[in-house]
Amino acid sequence: MKFESLLAYTVSRLFSLYKNKSGYIIKQLLAQLVGYDTVWNIENSDHSKNGGLGGNDMHLYGTQSINELGHLTIGGVDTVELGKQYGTPLFVYDLALFRERARGFVDTFKKEGVKAQVAYASKAFSSVAIYQAAAQEGLSVDVVSGGELYTALKAGFPSAKIHFHGNNKSIEEIEQAFDSKIGCIVIDNFYEIELLKEISAKRKQKMDVLFRVTPGVEAHTHDFITTGQADSKFGFDLSNGQADEAFRLLFEDEYLQLKGMHCHIGSQIFETEAFSLAAKKVVDKMAEWQQSTGFKATVLNLGGGFGIRYTAEDTPLAPAVYVDDMIKAVKKEAEQFGIELPEVWIEPGRSLVGDAGTTLYTVGSSKVVPDVRNYIAIDGGMSDNIRPALYEAKYEGALANKMNAPLEETYTVAGKLCESGDKIIEDLQLPKAEVGDLLATFCTGAYGYSMASNYNRIARPAVVFVEDGKHQLVVKRETLEDLVKLDLPLTLGEG
Ligand SMILES: Cc1ncc(COP(=O)(O)O)c(C=O)c1O
Repeated sequence: MKFESLLAYTVSRLFSLYKNKSGYIIKQLLAQLVGYDTVWNIENSDHSKNGGLGGNDMHLYGTQSINELGHLTIGGVDTVELGKQYGTPLFVYDLALFRERARGFVDTFKKEGVKAQVAYASKAFSSVAIYQAAAQEGLSVDVVSGGELYTALKAGFPSAKIHFHGNNKSIEEIEQAFDSKIGCIVIDNFYEIELLKEISAKRKQKMDVLFRVTPGVEAHTHDFITTGQADSKFGFDLSNGQADEAFRLLFEDEYLQLKGMHCHIGSQIFETEAFSLAAKKVVDKMAEWQQSTGFKATVLNLGGGFGIRYTAEDTPLAPAVYVDDMIKAVKKEAEQFGIELPEVWIEPGRSLVGDAGTTLYTVGSSKVVPDVRNYIAIDGGMSDNIRPALYEAKYEGALANKMNAPLEETYTVAGKLCESGDKIIEDLQLPKAEVGDLLATFCTGAYGYSMASNYNRIARPAVVFVEDGKHQLVVKRETLEDLVKLDLPLTLGEG
């Protein structure tokens, strides 16, 4: 190559790669100039070792790797083969990563000698197989509907380790909880107190309960705010007397066995201070009630919300760090007031299944809007991942069949649904994408499949678990027949 053309080429490559960070640009450039070699920066996340801090540009999660064919592998299984066998879109869960995350929470409590329950918040992804995996890891689960409860029970999940949440549990759902003798109901509001009193008395059946409080700490990512009065549809306010009233109604009830309190302060939280502050506020209240009534709370549930890495901007902490700091805060407060250390329960959802999940799509059509953007379209979209449209959530992605190819283009990845906002990733650097390529979007394991819909009558994807070189279908792909199985033919207007 002549020097001038090399220079022009270099400048144009730099320009097209301007979004990347400087080190990565140079790496890219070198890769381009010296013969298109590996350009991914493989930095597998390992929260137990590196505190969850992700790599910079391309980040592989858990057991993800690249094989000799340049294909993405997960759990030792070639994703291209998974795509061929099960079709796309396909959710692939790295079971080893799920286990690692679960153990990160469970083992830290054990190490600290603190009685605890780590309850998987199954709204993040609910299926028979994930409840069974949670059981294998000794987790409890939290459910928020009769449907999640039914699925957990179908999975054979021990009912005594199921906690039932929700701000408008129906009578049927409460009966279902009593029938199956679940471990605990987390009461949300005054109407529910009435309902539960009535139902438990009628059945003459005891039930352990916590009640949910809003401690006036709201946390999201790196920020948290403390408010005198929390504006939330959930729970009893701690500062305006509602929590005291709930306590008065529940304390010493014949059938409802009050064990303690619950709070959940937000999602994608990347620091521990907000949890510590919430713990302090709730333990202070427990101490106050103990002094005035002698009631001894035995459970403090601090909810979920532990952050995960979707993109390089996210800097999650290791489960152990969250748990250690929580324990410190609870111990300090309990000691100060001379009350017994309660069991500490937590409810991680996203942080157990989020980065364990990858979605595989097949690339179809493409469209160039000159000087604006290049679109590629995939065979799924907001029907299997609503989060970009709903929250402007950001994801990273790669061509799973071309992991070693140079990143040559910037694409916006569009879904196939009839909404202009149906875009999964904007400005994604990829190798040149062609029809039939396999696009992997990372970190889709939480609130992806569980929020999936049949909008446009699109069938929901299949779900596969992988581990140690093996793969197993755990949720079948919906069929066209499934899509009409609840429909009934019209009889009105038939003359
Ligand atoms: C009460 C409660 N617990 C746990 C969770 C799980 O949160 P995350 O998935 O962010 O850990 C949620 C999420 O909405 C929740 O509302």
